[in-house]
Amino acid sequence: MSKSTLSVTDNRTGKTYELPIQDGTIRAVDLRQIKVASDDAGLATYDPGFLNTAACRSAISYIDGDKGILRYRGYPIEQLAERSTFLETAYLLLHGELPSAAELDSWVYNVTHHTIVHESIKKFIDGFHHDAHPMGMFVSTVAALSTFYPEAKQIMNETSRWNQIFRLIAKAPTLAAFAYRHSVGMPYAYPDNDLSYTGNFLNMMFKATEVKYVPNKTLEHALDVLFILHADHEQNCSTSAMRGVGSSHADPYSAMAAAAAALYGPLHGGANEEVLKMLREIRSKDNIPAYLERVKRGEFRLFGFGHRIYKSYDPRAKIIQRVAEEVFDVTGKNPLIDIAVELERIALQEDYFVTRKLYPNVDFYSGIIYEAMKFPMDMFPVLFAIGRTPGWLAQWQEMLLDKEQKIARPHQIYTGADMRDYVAIENRG
Ligand code: CMC
Repeated sequence: MSKSTLSVTDNRTGKTYELPIQDGTIRAVDLRQIKVASDDAGLATYDPGFLNTAACRSAISYIDGDKGILRYRGYPIEQLAERSTFLETAYLLLHGELPSAAELDSWVYNVTHHTIVHESIKKFIDGFHHDAHPMGMFVSTVAALSTFYPEAKQIMNETSRWNQIFRLIAKAPTLAAFAYRHSVGMPYAYPDNDLSYTGNFLNMMFKATEVKYVPNKTLEHALDVLFILHADHEQNCSTSAMRGVGSSHADPYSAMAAAAAALYGPLHGGANEEVLKMLREIRSKDNIPAYLERVKRGEFRLFGFGHRIYKSYDPRAKIIQRVAEEVFDVTGKNPLIDIAVELERIALQEDYFVTRKLYPNVDFYSGIIYEAMKFPMDMFPVLFAIGRTPGWLAQWQEMLLDKEQKIARPHQIYTGADMRDYVAIENRG
């Protein structure tokens, strides 16, 4: 059998080095021995955007981007979307195994009984301007939670860690719904522990004057599936932020606020909001070819298309199309779906998209469903954040318990000025 090593010849010195290959990678620090002089720092890798760098070992989610496969802890996303619930999937992500009936009961009980937030959080939200973006409010209130639970700093204490995990999964929908109610000037609706996780979220979002809010079962289930689809996605931008901030041993609230901030960007979780704006701007199927011409000219990107890892159809986007049909049976069809389907059809015939392997991603259809369910556009990234919370926490905990991990601290290639002497202000040209 061939050896699992890589031979590298440094043509600057003529020396050859043999580096071990493990799991299809070489260790970047093994390159350090490759030097021209004994006092140089050794060879490093340059990888802006981490296009080809593994930063951790992880057993949580698996993606095969060429085949369009996504699995959580080995279970195909299609099976989880079909047969699991969001809270069961959250348990799976965090514990590594599906729960027994008793374990699931206790897990659901714990999450359900941590949904209320301190009354002062309401005052905090009240301080935001009426048109504050709910994602900005979400990021800030998640960070603010750390001040209510100072014991969260004990990240190596297992009991404390699990308490914060319950709290974050439980309170994310409460913070999200409170942010929405503030923006529309409605009184905050408190959690209803008789309802499911998603049923309660719909209650906190949409309860008006009725004594007891009864969620529509189809919409409750559809939202649960959407949360499952968003629950984890290996080392994406926001998860890397969670791990990066968590690696400094900051508390999980602060780390998750950073993760949510990363998700807010239009290239990541903010893309679903951009898709809706784009479909509205296109307005009619007739305008699609001209719109795509502008994309091809590089004027802007087609939001909801393309992915760093998926080079074929995003499996989540396929499931979302099915969910859309179920939702539209209840809400009536969102007319934007026709534009989206036609946009996808035409784009996938265009050389530009085919050669670059750009397919619809999870964000392409999710916003159309959320809108049909009466969520305002600026809540879309917040919905993504609720779904991603267990994944962020699972990745954070995995990072903390991984003996190989250290504070995240990349190198740089310095391109600035050489040493020069300070010039007094009167002598500057
Ligand atoms: N529309 C038009 N062209 C695109 C798009 C797009 N959506 N995405 C990539 N390209 C082109 C890009 O211009 C480049 O072309 P060229 O080789 O001629 O320069 C090529 O495809 C490769 O693009 P890239 O920017 O190197 O790819 P990336 O892996 O760095 O970016 C991405 C991945 C998701 C940021 C990008 O595809 C994009 O901006 N998509 C639109 C935003 C979006 O939908 N984001 C949601 C991602 S899924 C949810 C999540 O997990 O965040």
